[in-house]
Amino acid sequence: MKDKTGHSWAEPYKIKMVELLRMTTREEREQAIREAGYNTFLLRSRDVYIDLLTDSGTSAMSDRQWAGLMMGDEAYAGSENFYNLQGAIQEYYGYKYLVPTHQGRGAEHLMSQILIKPGDYVPGNMYFTTTRLHQEMAGGHFVDVIVDEAHDPASPHPFKGNVDIAKLDRLVAEVGANHIPYISLEGCVNMAGGQPFSMANLKDLHDWCRQHDIPIMLDATRTIENAWFIRRREEGYADKSIREILREICDLTDGCTMSAKKDLLVNIGGFFACNDEEVFLKAQNMVVVYEGLHTYGGLAGRDMEAMARGLREAVLQEHQDARIGQVRYLGVHLRNAGVPIVRPIGSHAIFLDAKMFLPHLDQDQFPAQTLAAELYLEAGIRSMERGNVSAGRDPETGQNRRPALELVRLTLPRRVYTQAHMDVVVEAVASVYERRTEIRGLEMAYEPEYLRFFQARFQPLE
Ligand code: F0G
Repeated sequence: MKDKTGHSWAEPYKIKMVELLRMTTREEREQAIREAGYNTFLLRSRDVYIDLLTDSGTSAMSDRQWAGLMMGDEAYAGSENFYNLQGAIQEYYGYKYLVPTHQGRGAEHLMSQILIKPGDYVPGNMYFTTTRLHQEMAGGHFVDVIVDEAHDPASPHPFKGNVDIAKLDRLVAEVGANHIPYISLEGCVNMAGGQPFSMANLKDLHDWCRQHDIPIMLDATRTIENAWFIRRREEGYADKSIREILREICDLTDGCTMSAKKDLLVNIGGFFACNDEEVFLKAQNMVVVYEGLHTYGGLAGRDMEAMARGLREAVLQEHQDARIGQVRYLGVHLRNAGVPIVRPIGSHAIFLDAKMFLPHLDQDQFPAQTLAAELYLEAGIRSMERGNVSAGRDPETGQNRRPALELVRLTLPRRVYTQAHMDVVVEAVASVYERRTEIRGLEMAYEPEYLRFFQARFQPLE
């Protein structure tokens, strides 16, 4: 598919090793999804053909990263790989202090416990499941301050990840700036469809935060992908490198949590980073209680090495052109087939609009969960519900949150699937779309207490 210059993009790598997949019959898939309680999280990977559950920890590492695994320094303390990682993060993200963690939520746990006091309010550009839960477990209340367009799957706004500063003003008027420990800012907002924020918006947010003496803590998970969109869509950035834009973003913020399993092309890893020494010392002390010593944070030395090397690959223009180009390829072909998807096409996934896809189902019949199960039955494709099940219950009312966005996420691991796989996905979704009026909803048969979408079980409605 051609880019703006009229050239097709292609992968900036060739394949050295392959992983064989098992093909299944429709009968096998019927049994598998029944046994999984119609929850794609509970399927066995061996029963899946094309796995689009997540881009988290599922990317293919390069030969250089694999070589880095052999350079693992597994000393309990002071591993050489920690210093390599620290150097890379200081160089590319620019934060002074680093605390490695086993993955993103480990960093969210540390940061939430350190910065949030019970009764505080934490504004963010849309919630993420684990992020909000850690805020709530620290006694905070999450407040959504993303622009309204983000909640409208049809809005073509180029920066649906932007923060609405007027919503922040209203929050300060209501609760006072001293009850806002930080602003939680995510790049390529996952739950909104992988939608970026603009640099102009971040600059406004930065000024606002300086006025109110509130720090900005970045969820850096997909911020390199966000930098790609700024370069592509925002005036004045076309001649800057992704690396320069990433640094500009980080310089406008005070620290970050990171799930390195996305942007950084590793199977496991994360970190907390910041510029404030006092906060760093607290995180460094707390990490030894919950994760591991502060020079490994629950990771093996080799994992930190793979992360440092992944970071250098992740900022390459040709890598992101192919990565985001493949997502776009899938999205454009689904749109051409008439399938309702979230616009504009985002960074890491295509989001099917399940309310539009299955308008005959009530939201409490879990249209997105139902559609994800149907897609698996159709072709062995595994996707993820991002709607009423993921949103959970309101802690105050106990009711399902019934979010505006009821989506199925087709998430692309980086450097894993081919264009032919994408064609198979398009055909499968189109064929489910054709028989959509026959599809019945689900009811929940088992509901766990925390992050219910991971482990809930369902059964088909009569
Ligand atoms: N923040 C964002 C924006 C995420 O997408 C994730 C994970 C996390 C934090 C938590 O990081 O999984 O390493 O503990 N997202 C995965 C996903 C699970 O499929 O979107 P983690």
